[in-house]
Amino acid sequence: MLVIHTKQELVEQIDEWRQHGDHIALVPTMGSLHAGHLSLVELARESAERVIVSIFVNPTQFGEGEDFDEYPRTLERDKRRLKQSAVDMIFAPDVDTLYPFGPDKATTVSVPGLTENFCGAARPGHFDGVTTVVARLFALVQPDVAVFGQKDYQQQLVIRRMTEDLGFPIGIITGETIRDDDGLALSSRNSYLSDDERATAPLLYETLATVGQELQAGGREFAALEAAAIERLSEAGFEVDYLSIRRALNLEIPDRDCDDLVVLVAAQLGGARLIDNIVVTI
Ligand code: PAJ
Repeated sequence: MLVIHTKQELVEQIDEWRQHGDHIALVPTMGSLHAGHLSLVELARESAERVIVSIFVNPTQFGEGEDFDEYPRTLERDKRRLKQSAVDMIFAPDVDTLYPFGPDKATTVSVPGLTENFCGAARPGHFDGVTTVVARLFALVQPDVAVFGQKDYQQQLVIRRMTEDLGFPIGIITGETIRDDDGLALSSRNSYLSDDERATAPLLYETLATVGQELQAGGREFAALEAAAIERLSEAGFEVDYLSIRRALNLEIPDRDCDDLVVLVAAQLGGARLIDNIVVTI
């Protein structure tokens, strides 16, 4: 497994693989890898001969007062984990490699519409940072496919839209959310939870699952379902940012006869902002 830090080494290696006719799959991450990330690596393996995992804690997607400084950086452990997953290359660039003119002077990619609500509203500029860095990774690596997690539902929709709109010839694959045994979606930010908070955290998924069952059973009073779920979480100590039933396709408000829904939630629990979602196909 190669560990590459510079643009030149990256381009040389990719050229060599391309000359052999190998296809390339990219799995963008911010490191602190867990089984959720590794499941995306498995998907990548199925679709290309070469798998590159990028590890870069991207400064432009963190707002002021967010956890950029505290975000766990565990490159040595990540390397050990990826070695066991048959990854061909870790691409771990520094800030200058991805932002040659500096993050403040970076050409920015911004997807309107889809980024306005939910995490986009709660974290102004966040998605611009995500699309800006992913577009740079796409331009550098020029993968055939790139793999993202359903865990960040809005993010993968935004990236799909950007890819289509800018005409990147890259297939976007979305991998299912990997959870702990108690249902809590794996996340690097789960490490911010105290023991007590960790014990409460599975209620987030439990609540989503309840809403999902109600929708499957024909429940269509979306506002009432949302309100009941928010109340349940608030009583348990979550500060709910949003819990919303939307069209899975584009996050628009669904009609009563919509048969492809997503239930999205973001909530603060102690020091951690947790997000999760479930797709409900009726
Ligand atoms: P990061 O939070 O490290 O996540 C990297 C990828 O792993 C994302 O596509 C995310 O959706 C996916 N992922 C996270 N938890 C998961 C889980 N429990 N199951 C399945 N997949 C999971 O998302 C980012 O980094 C960044 O925004 C990035 C796209 C790398 C741009 O900087």
